[in-house]
Amino acid sequence: MSKTLKVGLIGTGGIVSGAHLKPGWLAVPDVEIVAACDVNEKLAQKLAKDFEIPKVFTDFRDLLKLKEIDAVDICTPNKVHTPAVVAALEAGKHVLCEKPLAVTVEEILAMRAALRKTDRILMTAQHHRFSPESVAIKAWIETGVLGEVYHTRVNAIRRNWLPISPGFIDPKLSGGGPCMDIGVHALDTALWLMNFPKPVRVSGRAHTNFAKGFDIPGAWGEWDRTLFGVEDFASGYVHFENGSTLVLEASWLQHQEKPEEMNATLLGRKASVSWPDGRFHSVVNRTLVDGCLHPHTGRKPAHTEEILAFAHAIRGGKPSPVPIEQTIYVIAILEAIMKSSQANKEVEIPNFD
Ligand SMILES: NC(=O)c1ccc[n+]([C@@H]2O[C@H](COP(=O)([O-])OP(=O)(O)OC[C@H]3O[C@@H](n4cnc5c(N)ncnc54)[C@H](O)[C@@H]3O)[C@@H](O)[C@H]2O)c1
Repeated sequence: MSKTLKVGLIGTGGIVSGAHLKPGWLAVPDVEIVAACDVNEKLAQKLAKDFEIPKVFTDFRDLLKLKEIDAVDICTPNKVHTPAVVAALEAGKHVLCEKPLAVTVEEILAMRAALRKTDRILMTAQHHRFSPESVAIKAWIETGVLGEVYHTRVNAIRRNWLPISPGFIDPKLSGGGPCMDIGVHALDTALWLMNFPKPVRVSGRAHTNFAKGFDIPGAWGEWDRTLFGVEDFASGYVHFENGSTLVLEASWLQHQEKPEEMNATLLGRKASVSWPDGRFHSVVNRTLVDGCLHPHTGRKPAHTEEILAFAHAIRGGKPSPVPIEQTIYVIAILEAIMKSSQANKEVEIPNFD
């Protein structure tokens, strides 16, 4: 690999123009974006023109033929992640892929099989892990201050921020609704803060309460009711091997005060802490204690820190900053919530190690 890290973008929609490319990749020293690919050629051409990207493709397989590309950044709709990740790994590229890395365990296992045949890295783009708040909370938890965590509450709930593009609401493209789309953010962060205890069984429930009707106006505009084929609310209850539990709520539409609540609270035997606000509660010598952690200073936006971590891992020959071995359990839980809802019974999570 030359000193310059050469990167290809696969999928050039909202998250690329809004975060991954700028400020993301443009903030990483010695990087050249050599190609952009989107099935919507006009979109890829526009990005290429705006950011002086020399090559444009409409099929990611053609982009992957470029020998000079070291790494790809995959930001397509969820159901395209697996074919693109597998093809990229097979072509010898390092891969950063947006969340959810996949929408079924079967897809993740296909990625893992491809990963095991190469020395490249695969990183799931879970940017919340890289925010100043998350980094501060994680560092504090690692001092052992919480004691044993016996329960965690996780929310990824919105009042009416329903993403309207087909890539989110058409199950053939998205593979799931808010549970996969935003539940994945809060669940990944919570499991990471908990140091990834092993999940063993899950019970869940998913509903489409409002999205087929017109009761709640969409904050991002109106969506195609006939195309909408995913849940708009899901909840799950997770048991871990170590006896602790976790409850997750995810929604795009529900009656609540705030536009969005993305948070987690870890209840430990010595203290509790909430993410991302850093509030903690404890008791010392029978005196109740409340406090608040300050976010770490001097950090760039979370998406940029995530991309810097990816580039740093490639250059330093280091392991993936968000490895598939962790993501597999995140996706297994989310998939199990939906399977449990369909089967109306608890679903077991196998050991994937
Ligand atoms: N981390 C975050 O905060 C965050 C935020 C938004 C979206 N996302 C994730 O990023 C991904 C993309 O979301 P988005 O908001 O940019 O969606 P988007 O619909 O704006 O963009 C997706 C792009 O992928 C293109 N595409 C579809 N199939 C393709 C294929 N086979 N090859 C190449 N391009 C293809 C589409 O034409 C579209 O331009 C999704 O997985 C989503 O979950 C993450």
